Amino acid sequence: MLDFGCRREFALSVVDLIRRLANDLDFDEDRNWVSERGRIDDSHVRLNDARLGHLLDPALDGWSRQVDRFADRPLRCQIVLLKDRQNLPVEVVERNARQSFIHRRSCTRNKIANGPIIFSANFVLLAICFLATANEVPMFLINTNCAYKSALDQRDAETLGFAAAKDVERFLSYRKDNAETPLVALPNLAREIGVASIHLKDEGYRLGLGSFKALGGSYAVIRLALEEAERRLGRPVDVSELPTAEVAAVARTMTVACATDGNHGRSVAQGAQLVGARAAIFVHSGVSDERTAAIARFGADVIRVDGTYDDSVQEASRVAAERGWTIVSDTSWPGYERIPGLVMQGYTPIVREALRKLPEPPTHVFVQSGVGGVAAAVAGHLAVVLGEGRPIFTVVDPERAACIVESAKAGHPVRIQHGEPTVMAMLECYQPSLVAWRILARVADAFMTVDEEEAISVMTRLAWPVSGDPAIVAGESGGVGLAGLIKAVSEADVKAALGISPSSRVLVINTEGATDPARYEEIVGMSPAQVVARNLEKAQ
Ligand SMILES: Cc1ncc(COP(=O)(O)O)c(C=O)c1O
Repeated sequence: MLDFGCRREFALSVVDLIRRLANDLDFDEDRNWVSERGRIDDSHVRLNDARLGHLLDPALDGWSRQVDRFADRPLRCQIVLLKDRQNLPVEVVERNARQSFIHRRSCTRNKIANGPIIFSANFVLLAICFLATANEVPMFLINTNCAYKSALDQRDAETLGFAAAKDVERFLSYRKDNAETPLVALPNLAREIGVASIHLKDEGYRLGLGSFKALGGSYAVIRLALEEAERRLGRPVDVSELPTAEVAAVARTMTVACATDGNHGRSVAQGAQLVGARAAIFVHSGVSDERTAAIARFGADVIRVDGTYDDSVQEASRVAAERGWTIVSDTSWPGYERIPGLVMQGYTPIVREALRKLPEPPTHVFVQSGVGGVAAAVAGHLAVVLGEGRPIFTVVDPERAACIVESAKAGHPVRIQHGEPTVMAMLECYQPSLVAWRILARVADAFMTVDEEEAISVMTRLAWPVSGDPAIVAGESGGVGLAGLIKAVSEADVKAALGISPSSRVLVINTEGATDPARYEEIVGMSPAQVVARNLEKAQ
């Protein structure tokens, strides 16, 4: 099967375009290829890549053309170069606009042989693949990574294993605001979209912070404070000793720092307040005042950084290194894996609580991603506890910040270009976490994107549910997993690829409630309190 990695309509429009161009392309006096409809303009993005393999296509009418490709990705490859009979490169150049593309010669004009350009079937196919993969973020991809279905790396299997997850729950039991979050059944929505059941784990109620992030950052800070106390006191220190003067005295000397879009920083600040450490939280210019104030409420120093999330990560690292602070990041990079691993370990109660409550394990799980941490923690822990019987796991990215989908497409973690901001503010990440990618490459089954409208529509849909289902407050990034499910069932080929049927039992996570209530009300047209009140009214 040929994987276009794009919408069917788009692939078909490319086929049509190539068919037409194949008939009427010729050279103009500048050796640009032109069509009958006039010269195709030159403002094109040049695609090239050092990692080229070669695929010789001998079936080409007198032209010894080579189609270069990524050696390890046959057919789903990106054509980057064609060569003419003097073995000079003919660049394939593409433009961002969906429907216009051009093949342009890069070699000097007097070296180019004249003559009509004849497209072979192979070339057309490969060109389609190229255009399909290069022109737009794929909506849906099956995992074709070579690590797919291999065992988790030993480090990750331990981080997300039984023993570790049990420990996290024990840590949680010492927190006074600890309570399992609700697992909500949506039977009427399930009926409407043709699956047996949908359960939504509502993390809007987690530890009074409004998002699942409450679990990770604070847990890592507590663990680090205990480890520091063990080092200084020269003996094991249990979480039950956290309130003792001895441990508090050690924690008081520590400063933890991180960059954040909002939710993670709030969790780190809460953890620091809990153990009595200082927190320095770096926020970029896109973080709303409301979210910033919510962090400062935990006594953290909030530092505004001009620029993007990436700029705030860099600034946090620079200042922390200078001042000897401990970075507690939810994303990982080469040489910095352990603490983000702890953050991800902190998310495992989501899965444990859900599995305890569900009548049967799910057959399908859809989880949204920023740097991929929560998706990897959920997928990884499910793989450890359910083994071969694990559900089909789909990672859902925002179309405008699809770093996980783009990494799946490339076959390795990639940094993507900054584009327009997305309404899914907490998912606006441009580079995957290294640890998260290592896990997802093995245990995620598929990757997909949802667009702005779909994210907004799911918020409204959850606030005004199918009659009989409870209303749910889902923030801008909260319902994205469910938006992925709704989109998947509406596209026959995606639904089939995921094996979604009337007997499917789906689990999704509402990763946040209204963490920015004003923004929530603007989008949904009701305050979070009004949405919750609708359930109470129904119950009476
Ligand atoms: C509400 C919400 N959902 C999902 C995510 C994505 O988590 P991750 O970055 O671990 O993929 C975040 C990250 O901040 C978040 O705040």
